[in-house]
Amino acid sequence: MKNIHEFATFKNASSAACAVVVLVAMGSVNAKTPPTSAELEDQKNMLMSAVKRGDDLWHSAKLGSNGLACGNCHPDGSATNPHTWPKYQSNLGKVGTLREMINWCISVPLVGTPLALDSDEMIAMEAYTMYTHRGVAIAPAKDEQHGGTPVVSGPGYPNAHGGNR
Ligand code: HEC
Repeated sequence: MKNIHEFATFKNASSAACAVVVLVAMGSVNAKTPPTSAELEDQKNMLMSAVKRGDDLWHSAKLGSNGLACGNCHPDGSATNPHTWPKYQSNLGKVGTLREMINWCISVPLVGTPLALDSDEMIAMEAYTMYTHRGVAIAPAKDEQHGGTPVVSGPGYPNAHGGNR
């Protein structure tokens, strides 16, 4: 039967082995080579196709059941203030996230079915509204209540359809 000393040595040896495994795994993360410019271009294109998908959803009535689209009330992502989330929002009755607020507007003004929070559609909606506000400083919890984000000649997503299409 092992005495306590042998047991302790055995335990130390096995945690040392674990540490080696973890360090090797971390080493391989650290050793990751930076993306090439072609890979960076692919990554940017993937982001822009999510933004484009969000733009299409934003201006489509298919998220709801009453013919309204987000763009009818939020042309070019205006008055969505994505940079201010998370914050306390009285409609949600709690500190909520941008995605939860997107779902609130799908459910209430659009009378639609909320999206799964991790769905590709939700990511696209978030990508679109964030992209229209790129360059705007993140200000969590701020209550902005302002108008649209300049898009035609400002920093927003290029506008090919006059806001609410
Ligand atoms: C009929 C008009 C209407 C439509 C259509 C509409 N919203 Fe809204 N939305 C509102 C109103 C009103 C508020 C403000 C709620 C408040 O602050 O009390 C709001 C607030 C928001 C906010 C938070 C704004 C802030 O100040 O932080 C987001 C995000 C948002 N809407 C996204 C959407 C999305 C996405 C859609 C489409 C699914 C959509 N809205 C459709 C009326 C609308």
